[in-house]
Amino acid sequence: MNFSTKIINWYNQNYRELPWRNTTDAYKIWLSEIILQQTRVSQGLPYYNNFINAFPTVNDLANADEQKILKLWQGLGYYSRARNLHFTAKFVMENHNGIFPNSYEELLKLKGIGTYTAAAIASFSSNEPVAVLDGNVFRVLSRVFNVNYDISQNTSKKYFIELATNVLSKSKPNIHNQAIMEFGALQCVPKSPNCVECIFNDSCEAYKLKIVSDLPVKSKK
Ligand code: ADE
Repeated sequence: MNFSTKIINWYNQNYRELPWRNTTDAYKIWLSEIILQQTRVSQGLPYYNNFINAFPTVNDLANADEQKILKLWQGLGYYSRARNLHFTAKFVMENHNGIFPNSYEELLKLKGIGTYTAAAIASFSSNEPVAVLDGNVFRVLSRVFNVNYDISQNTSKKYFIELATNVLSKSKPNIHNQAIMEFGALQCVPKSPNCVECIFNDSCEAYKLKIVSDLPVKSKK
């Protein structure tokens, strides 16, 4: 069984029920991804629900009073994220007829959206085959395929993007991306992962070489 089939099967049996996983609305997925930047799922969840209740559409967010947005954001920190949120909502109303973009290329042009977030929104909302690369994905790929390039170097990122793209499911990139992130969050955790009970324990290169705790390699914080 290939990597993608295995990790999707694992996901189907182990995923957490999260509200942004039950939608293909690019606006809602965008909101969840901005909230979850630098924020844990358990902390971000009530904020996501409060935002969706207060602003069910991008139009509602665009027309909101900035003070109200900042108030709902209180406690999450990094207030530039909240200001970018408002700016981008207004931008989408003015430049995209209020329809939140769902293609990787268009998403990258929006303020506050980088390669990770664009790939997440595009794949989750329209099943576009672009691989996500975040801390969880670096960890899973570096261990399963024994990659010891330093993930804080830009040249290594290129290597990881190529690897992530090569193993990405071409038919279910949306589920594949959710699956690899969930696998990193729940199974292939940074400290003391339970490798004895892992779907990759017969194929994980790092496990075979007993170097799981050495990967990923990261020189600076
Ligand atoms: N962290 C960032 N994006 C996420 C997602 N879609 N599901 C779970 N955790 C995440």
